[in-house]
This record gives sequence, structure tokens and C-alpha cells, in this order.
Amino acid sequence: MADDVAPCTASGYLDPSYWDGRFGKEEHYEWFKDFSHFRHLLAPLLSPSLSVLEVGCGNSRLGEELLREGVTGGVTCIDLSPVAVQRMRDRLAEQGTSGVDVVVADMLDLPFESESFDLVIEKGTMDVLFVDSGDPWNPNPTTVDNVTKMLEGIHKVLKPGGKFVSITFGQPHFRRRFFEAPEFTWSVEWNTFGDGFHYFFYILQKGKRSPESNSHQVTLPAVPSFNMLHEELESEDYIFCTNVDEL
Ligand SMILES: C[S@@+](CC[C@H](N)C(=O)[O-])C[C@H]1O[C@@H](n2cnc3c(N)ncnc32)[C@H](O)[C@@H]1O
Repeated sequence: MADDVAPCTASGYLDPSYWDGRFGKEEHYEWFKDFSHFRHLLAPLLSPSLSVLEVGCGNSRLGEELLREGVTGGVTCIDLSPVAVQRMRDRLAEQGTSGVDVVVADMLDLPFESESFDLVIEKGTMDVLFVDSGDPWNPNPTTVDNVTKMLEGIHKVLKPGGKFVSITFGQPHFRRRFFEAPEFTWSVEWNTFGDGFHYFFYILQKGKRSPESNSHQVTLPAVPSFNMLHEELESEDYIFCTNVDEL
């Protein structure tokens, strides 16, 4: 990430005006990784008729990649930043790309009917809620409330059997307590991608929670353990020192 677009402190990422300012000058940035790095995990979940919601699209090209993969059931991208939304609309219009609906919306108050989407995807967006979470083993109540609100909204707008994909560097021991809260009916699986530094690719399928509600890792690749403390992560600016392998 270019230094001139990073906020002074990690909690700056929680300020909507930060994102408006950033998207006003930044053309394109993919948090974590672009589609090519996790295509092998996402493509098997896609089919032409799917209706897809991307939460917190920023200036990512993921929505267009879904179209290129043959999704014709409708792609809706939302972001809290009107600047990001307008710039994405402009870009799509310039390209002559149709089939992606870009909407200003708050992921904590999703403006969609229940059971509207087959697939909901977020990449790096839920992580924003964790930037001031305090102790990652015992996040502060505001973080817990907001993450829960986000997940409740996503669970609600998913169709029965629909999937939520969360792409994050949040490790399972920090995410499972949220994903596996009793109010949710989804199963929880995950995989990893990336070289050296691994990102997590969670798949939650609505209505498929097992009675034991035991989530599990789909495969067991040799993942080097990285247990960064929150302070260390924050000092890297945003919990994410993203694109670590490019630093
Ligand atoms: C870390 S960026 C990720 C952007 C994009 N998903 C990517 O992979 O490049 C987080 C995005 O979430 C958006 N965002 C933050 N809070 C939001 C909220 N409450 N509702 C919707 N979007 C939000 C920001 O505007 C920003 O575009």
C-alpha cells in the first residue's frame, strides 16, 4: 500500500471519511490479494445463475472477475463510501460493463430482503471492524456487537443453502467464535492461500450446520504459524500489513 494513503493510526480505517478521501485519489487497490490468487477456491463455488453480493467492494475488481467467470444471475457490490461507489460506477460505464450493480450501503444495516443472494463475499471488509478490537482473544464489546451485526445481516440475506465467503487474514481461533455463534445455521469450513504469508478463505453455508457444529479445515496444508500480537499487527498499520510478500 502506498504510504500516502494509509491513515495515521489503524483505527483511522473505521472512519468513513478516510475511505472517501482515499478512494478520491486511488484508482485500484486489492486488499490481501487479487482474484487470481484465490480463483482455485472461489471458482468451484460459482455457477451462472448465482446472485452475488460483495460487501465493501472499495475499488477492487472482484465484481468484474465474477462476470468474467460467467456469473449472470446479478452481482451487487456495496460500499459505505459514496466516492468508491461512484468511481466504480464510472469505471464500469467507461468499460461498457453491465451486470454489476454498485450501491452505497452499510454492511451493518444491509438494505436487502431476506434470502436475496446465493453468495455473499467479503474481502478484508470484516477485518476493518477489528482494527480497534483490543485484545484479539477478548475483543471489546463494540467490536463484538458490530461483527455480530454484520454476520446477522449476511446470514439473513443469504438464501437457504447459500454461501458466505470471507477472505481475511483473521485466523480461525479469532473468527470461529463469531462464525459459530448459536444464532447461525451455517457450516464453517476454511482453506488458506498465499505464499509465505497465508490468508484465510472461509466458506459458510447456510442451513448446513452440523449438530455438533464442529467447523473444520478443508485441507491441511503446511501453513507456517503466524501468531502476530494485535499490537504488532497495528504497528504494521491496519491489522493487515497486507501484501506482506511485496514489502
Ligand atoms: C480493506 S477495504 C477492502 C476493499 C475490497 N474488498 C478489497 O478487497 O480490495 C474495506 C472496505 O470496506 C468499506 N467499508 C468499511 N466499513 C463499511 C461498512 N460499514 N459498510 C460497507 N462498507 C464498508 C470501506 O469503504 C472499504 O472499501
